[in-house]
Amino acid sequence: MKITGIKGFSDVFPEEVESWQLAEAEARRILSVYNFAEIRIPILEKTELFSRSIGETTDIVEKEMYTFGDRDDNDALLTLRPEGTAGVVRAYVESEMYKFEPVRKLYYMGPMFRRERPQKGRLRQFHQIGAEALGRGDPFIDAEILLLLHDYLEALQLTEPSLQLNSLGCADCRPAYRARLLEFLRQRAAGLCDNCRRRIERNPLRALDCKEPGCIAATADAPSIIDGLCAACREHFDVVQRLLRETGVAYSLNPRMVRGLDYYCRTTFEWTSTRLGSQSAVAAGGRYDGLVEALGGPAIPGVGFALGVERLVLLLRALEPREATGPGLFIAWVGVNGRDWAFPLAHRLRQKGLSVELEGEARSLKSQMRRADKLKARSVLMVGDDELQKGKVILRNMANKQQEEISLANVETALLAKKVD
Ligand code: HAM
Repeated sequence: MKITGIKGFSDVFPEEVESWQLAEAEARRILSVYNFAEIRIPILEKTELFSRSIGETTDIVEKEMYTFGDRDDNDALLTLRPEGTAGVVRAYVESEMYKFEPVRKLYYMGPMFRRERPQKGRLRQFHQIGAEALGRGDPFIDAEILLLLHDYLEALQLTEPSLQLNSLGCADCRPAYRARLLEFLRQRAAGLCDNCRRRIERNPLRALDCKEPGCIAATADAPSIIDGLCAACREHFDVVQRLLRETGVAYSLNPRMVRGLDYYCRTTFEWTSTRLGSQSAVAAGGRYDGLVEALGGPAIPGVGFALGVERLVLLLRALEPREATGPGLFIAWVGVNGRDWAFPLAHRLRQKGLSVELEGEARSLKSQMRRADKLKARSVLMVGDDELQKGKVILRNMANKQQEEISLANVETALLAKKVD
């Protein structure tokens, strides 16, 4: 019987990989321009890391994590990381990076795991490119991160996604807002879904983010968090907005944007696209000033983002479907002498960086030409006993079908000079 993959865990085939590589290469370029350095963190962490940072009452921690006991220590619960921020902050605290230099700009790329219901743009294993700026509480770094994302999307010619911005306040002003919202929600409890009603006491802000039509209607005139910001949070948020205006980055305010993770304070944001269906967020993030301390470090602020690579690739491929490219050169040989000449030549050309393909078993020239075509080879070098005797091989350009003879003596230099790749 065939063994199939796991629901929500997908393979990425070569036709698509090119877009992935483009997204990753461009991200590395932009992140290094903004002076972020790569960090590689484990995929598996202690469960407590996520429950303490993302929050016990979030969907992720309540029902979406892949959690299991360690094989020989069943008290130690482990979880496949559902996101990268917690792991980066854990590594920062554990290695005491801050002692040498508290300001660290770190980025990561890799798979994340959430047991959500799979649909377009939503997988159970998905990939993020994320960045975290630790040690800076000023609004300039919030703006820098938003500009980085703006530059990145623009470099990939993805100009359609739009930026939504909110401020969630801080430990000084959020409790008062939370109390006001809770009071409001208690009065509207009858209109809320079971899930929201169950958790309004513990996490009232989540009700603003609920997609149930009843909850959207019941909370339409809920108090706005932006109106309840303290002076320091307001000043911080005003500067972020001023910097965006001055640099020409369009945004809109969305005071209902709560985000699905509890560690946020002050600036939060989402970049959404109308071309992705209901899973519209391409990139999202915000500030998390209490997280380093919550994970056992000193009071050091942080801000960051993560973008979903699958969603980005959907947008890139809609823009310009990319085809997997074939080898630069296919060597079609006929006869044992042709083969014994072609095999070492292919090796020498590959050593020089040309991508070359050739058959291992004897085939007719016609069938080799068909194969070269199927592989999308850009040119074909043909060699058999006749060519070897005459001292000339034939090079065919597969795009314009033109053929030329190349002398055996300088075939290698001629092919390299032509850059058949
Ligand atoms: P998040 O909003 O949970 O934030 O995820 C960020 C992005 O990951 C989303 O906008 C989306 O593009 C992608 N994503 C999330 N879940 C899935 C899924 N099931 N399938 C496909 N793509 C998905 C975070 O993870 C935070 N750690 C971001 C952050 C970094 N905040 C501060 N620093």
